[in-house]
Amino acid sequence: MRFYYHFGEQQIVLEVSDDVYYPREDSVFMADFLVDFLSKRRMKPKRILDVGTGSGFLAILCFLLTGAKVTAVDINRKAVECARKNAARNRCRLILIESDLFEGIRGKYDLVLFNPPYLPPSPESDKHLGTAKKALTESGEIPRFLLKLSGHLTSDGIALLLASSLTPVDMEKLSQRNKLKAMVIQTKKLDWEELMLYKITSL
Ligand SMILES: C[S@@+](CC[C@H](N)C(=O)[O-])C[C@H]1O[C@@H](n2cnc3c(N)ncnc32)[C@H](O)[C@@H]1O
Repeated sequence: MRFYYHFGEQQIVLEVSDDVYYPREDSVFMADFLVDFLSKRRMKPKRILDVGTGSGFLAILCFLLTGAKVTAVDINRKAVECARKNAARNRCRLILIESDLFEGIRGKYDLVLFNPPYLPPSPESDKHLGTAKKALTESGEIPRFLLKLSGHLTSDGIALLLASSLTPVDMEKLSQRNKLKAMVIQTKKLDWEELMLYKITSL
């Protein structure tokens, strides 16, 4: 299925296969923030990592906004293939790796993004949200991400992590436990939940 995103004079066109996460409100919320953050503000990241890239949407956007070295990972092989095709379609250079979170990653990044599976599962949940339940437990995606994050952040690097009012993870507490500081920097009310974007830095 096709997905279009416009920013400034530019447009991103994605082809998203059935077994890959189709960008939704959460993706667009994060994308809109990135457009503002990376084009109008002072952050000039040289190395960016997009964890759980799905269709490659946020990684492609980051490359077009900054020209930085962008690495994108996903645990879903189909997503990595889809992101690779979308990168070529949008004339972007991305380093794409099939990886469980940071497993296949070496080195540190100025900016790390993660739009994780953050919703409790429901009968309508898509197949690619199948890991959602895990995100809510200690052994799930969000806690495991926070556990390894500081090893992949430069000294003044930041991570942007999306969650929602339906994500019963105490982000501040969990971050502190991992020598990180989390604060909400943007919110968006939807009918059924509130999206929250966390900025996470090393303590
Ligand atoms: C909510 S989607 C976000 C996709 C894309 N970043 C976006 O904003 O449209 C979450 C993505 O994380 C991936 N994912 C889930 N668990 C993962 C893990 N342990 N390691 C890497 N990727 C993971 C899923 O395959 C899915 O593509």
